[in-house]
Amino acid sequence: MRPASLLAGLSAAAVSASWPEHPGAADSPGFATSYTARVPIKPSNESARANAFRIFNAIHSAGRQWGTAIYHNGFSFMPAIMPKGTITYHGAPDKDPPTGFEWLAYEIEHAENFARSEKHPHWPPPPPWKGEEASFQKPLQPLGPSHTGAQEDTTSSISEGQTRRGYLQTYQANRDLHLLLIDGMSAAKTSMGTLDSQDLLLRENKTFRSGIWDEWQRAEDICSMIADWGYDGFIRDEIGFEVVYCDFSQGLDLISSTRSFFQEDKMGDWSLVLWQWVRAAGDRYDGISNDRVRIDLSSMVSGFFFPINISSTIPERPDLERLGAASLEELVDIKHYLAQVAKQPRRFTVDWQGAVVDLIVNRYADRIAHMATEDISTDHFIQELEGIALGYINAPDEDDDSETGGAYNKANETMVAVHRCTQHYLHRSYASRSEWSASDELIHTAISSIMEGICSTVFIMRSMLLQASGRTESTAFYINRKSDSDEMRRAVELSKAMTRNMVEKLGWADWKRTRPCPIDEVLFVAMWPFGNSDDHWNPGCRTIDDLASGMRMGYWFMDRPPPPP
Ligand SMILES: *[C@@H]1O[C@H](CO)[C@@H](O)[C@H](O)[C@H]1NC(C)=O
Ligand SMILES: *[C@@H]1O[C@H](CO)[C@@H](O)[C@H](O)[C@H]1NC(C)=O
Ligand SMILES: *[C@@H]1O[C@H](CO)[C@@H](O)[C@H](O)[C@H]1NC(C)=O
Ligand SMILES: *[C@@H]1O[C@H](CO)[C@@H](O)[C@H](O)[C@H]1NC(C)=O
Repeated sequence: MRPASLLAGLSAAAVSASWPEHPGAADSPGFATSYTARVPIKPSNESARANAFRIFNAIHSAGRQWGTAIYHNGFSFMPAIMPKGTITYHGAPDKDPPTGFEWLAYEIEHAENFARSEKHPHWPPPPPWKGEEASFQKPLQPLGPSHTGAQEDTTSSISEGQTRRGYLQTYQANRDLHLLLIDGMSAAKTSMGTLDSQDLLLRENKTFRSGIWDEWQRAEDICSMIADWGYDGFIRDEIGFEVVYCDFSQGLDLISSTRSFFQEDKMGDWSLVLWQWVRAAGDRYDGISNDRVRIDLSSMVSGFFFPINISSTIPERPDLERLGAASLEELVDIKHYLAQVAKQPRRFTVDWQGAVVDLIVNRYADRIAHMATEDISTDHFIQELEGIALGYINAPDEDDDSETGGAYNKANETMVAVHRCTQHYLHRSYASRSEWSASDELIHTAISSIMEGICSTVFIMRSMLLQASGRTESTAFYINRKSDSDEMRRAVELSKAMTRNMVEKLGWADWKRTRPCPIDEVLFVAMWPFGNSDDHWNPGCRTIDDLASGMRMGYWFMDRPPPPP
């Protein structure tokens, strides 16, 4: 029998000890009786804690194509600024700027899809009205449906000989533009939940009969609402980030408008078009950059802050959590709360993404993933664990370490270490604590609870390994990895199970990405003083063994050997 199964019972208890409870729905207060006056739901620390994993991931994915695609059902709104000078693109059937609202893309390839010139278009030219069924900017069929289009125009056909020209318009923001980021893949016209934050929450379920394809009315409704809040438009995501810009007559300078070529006049067929578009969108997996959008997380409002049901409503896809499981009244409460927060001046008090969450993911993601691999050796597992844990522990000095024991209080030191570990990446945010908004408090609650989970798991694992490695005074503070007892092997198996549980709960989107190197290798270029000639001329993946001597050198010391250590 495998040790892991022997420990299954214990494992469950230990593993769940420190993590936030799975949220639910079950603890949603809702409204008890229909005859009591309804009190609007409010954001709460309890909800932030219950949804800690989701809030953490929403912050990590904000404005980033990868995580946004993985967690495509958005629950959050984040006021943002597109800085003055930012360049964006619009594909149009006209050389002149549109009047009123229209779509802007962050990537050229995205806009070009709507700027095609056609000798024999498969759809009618744009109608003179902008109604529910308007079909401006309809891309060619092989490349999927339009972001602004209505349903397929099966009834109409173009008269022979008519051509359609397309224009790629390039704009520059002539002031800082105020935008509302609607997170998740919110430009995806689906019924999976990607539109819940717009159609149910912002629009209160008042959609036209075209449902998910009600794009024109959706843009108009949301534009007129957020114009009152002082916004110029809203940001959404599909294959590329886009802005629904509410009034082209202000805030933007047209810097060029170029007529596109007919397909017949180009060498290329269609074969590279989608591939190039994916490549362009993929360049934004890690973000469209702070220079093009600054996200004010201190003004974030999320459905995850509220005590609502977020279950999936699609039985075959229990993973698809959505706002649509909450009641419409609750969603309207959230909308009213959002309106209050969104109207306030921009804060940018804490950069929760870049200054906190990213540093946590950088430090823990690869380490935890390595520790969670099936075939990691006990030795490597313990060294990775020590690599996280020991920096937070004040080691005993020689007196403490003696047979008689000293003043050193192991249990207390562990408690203090867990606290140091939990707080480590939060200190950055405390620098501005006196200015925190309610959103900052709620985000802090979520991130602290993630860190408490990670750090207590780390130190529970360490305590188990300490115990398993013997109880003599001299080993009391150290994991004796030479110890080859059954007990030790079991403790390691249990620790691995806890690590895998951690991976599952955290659900970091980056773990779904292809790695440049296997998890037990690193991408290495010679960096002084380390690295040999090969590492400079052929940088690449290096194994633990390649670097094990700690003396991989040569490139920087070609004339003379390094001085003795
Ligand atoms: C939450 O929503 C799901 C999906 O609509 C539903 O099946 C479930 O009963 C709801 N839970 C509660 C406690 O209302
Ligand atoms: C959450 O907790 C913090 C710190 O205790 C508190 O300042 C804040 O008001 C709480 N937020 C809510 C919405 O209850
Ligand atoms: C939205 O409206 C549709 C159609 O009227 C209805 O079936 C659905 O239950 C409504 N959704 C909510 C959350 O009220
Ligand atoms: C634990 O350690 C802290 C910091 O060194 C100290 O202030 C505290 O008194 C200790 N508590 C106990 C119970 O030893």
